[in-house]
Amino acid sequence: MQAVILVGGEGTRLRPLTYTIPKPLIPLMNRPFLSFQFELCRRHGITDIILSTSYMASIFQEAFGDGSSLGVKLTYVTEESPLDTCGAVKNVEEHIRGPFMVFNGDVLTDLDLSAMLAFHRQKGSVTTISLTPVEDPSAYGLVPLDDEGRVLEFLEKPGPDDEIVTNLINAGTYVIEPELLDRVPAAQRYSFERQFFPGLLAEGLPVYGFPSDAYWLDIGTPAKYLQAHHDILDRLLPFDFSGEEVFPGVWAEEDTVIEEGALVSGPCCLGRGCHVSSGAVIRGHSVVGNDCCIAPEAVVEGAVLLDGVRVGEGSEVHGSVLGRRVRLGRKVEVRDLCVLGEGVAVGDHNQLRMGLRIWPEREIAPDTLHF
Ligand code: GTP
Repeated sequence: MQAVILVGGEGTRLRPLTYTIPKPLIPLMNRPFLSFQFELCRRHGITDIILSTSYMASIFQEAFGDGSSLGVKLTYVTEESPLDTCGAVKNVEEHIRGPFMVFNGDVLTDLDLSAMLAFHRQKGSVTTISLTPVEDPSAYGLVPLDDEGRVLEFLEKPGPDDEIVTNLINAGTYVIEPELLDRVPAAQRYSFERQFFPGLLAEGLPVYGFPSDAYWLDIGTPAKYLQAHHDILDRLLPFDFSGEEVFPGVWAEEDTVIEEGALVSGPCCLGRGCHVSSGAVIRGHSVVGNDCCIAPEAVVEGAVLLDGVRVGEGSEVHGSVLGRRVRLGRKVEVRDLCVLGEGVAVGDHNQLRMGLRIWPEREIAPDTLHF
């Protein structure tokens, strides 16, 4: 079995992080997000993986090489211009040798791939779509099934007067029979959701849905990206922490120093080579990247800091994401889902709130922003 992972999107909802790191490579728990998908595939015996790249294509190969260090064999195929989800799979057709799986490159899940494949075979399905239940079906396109699990139709987002017939939505993982690619036009934009799947139904082909209660999260927005960290720290899905558990629920990798007098409470994790000064506070649900410095009296809570971040004396970061090499001066406050791009420097006594996003390498002069 092979897997095709779609990693070519621009990740606009996660800007400014995605200006300098493509979404599938943004660290989750200090590891490139895609490594979670490789690990899931490996657990189910899928090691032959094709990465369909477009946006920032060369960075993927630099990050993973041939995949051997991660226990997988990677093939990279790059589009000259983005071909949308199904067009991207058509573009890798020459590497496909049998039925294959497709993954959106931004979904964190512990879906039972082996069970999904067994279901696909048992039903004689030509395409099987993983489905996940959602609490508010009115916000999504829905996929109702018959009693056998066969897809009846693909519904657009229901309007206020429409009856809600199911709470199942497309979870972005598919099993596909290879001959179906014959009906996809080459070198053209083509969508699974809007064109390919509805086309199969129109022809009366057996398309099945595989509903699952497995953990599932699309990490594509800042809120979901933070939530993915919180959920892993809360052990909602399997994860092997790196480094050492230095206090209960506090994991730190090598060369990280937590000075006496610093208060670090779990669940949280710190990468390599960090320095947490005496008087600093790191509260639960925080993830600190490699080579970060947290100065005295600084507070980090429910936040994600990528590599090389410096949080100045008395500054506070709550429920926000700081990109690589962000520097906060003294007494800066960052709260409520702000996202600071790579290399942003915030001068002393600024307050950043209400989901502010600051583009990479910008500098904010001291005492400029207040709420
Ligand atoms: P947003 O711009 O924030 O919506 O994110 P996105 O660009 O990732 O789009 P979306 O979340 O809808 O994409 C779902 C998956 O398909 C992601 O893993 C994308 O990387 C991937 N993807 C989207 N469009 C293309 C494309 O044209 N080519 C390839 N190869 N992958 C794509």
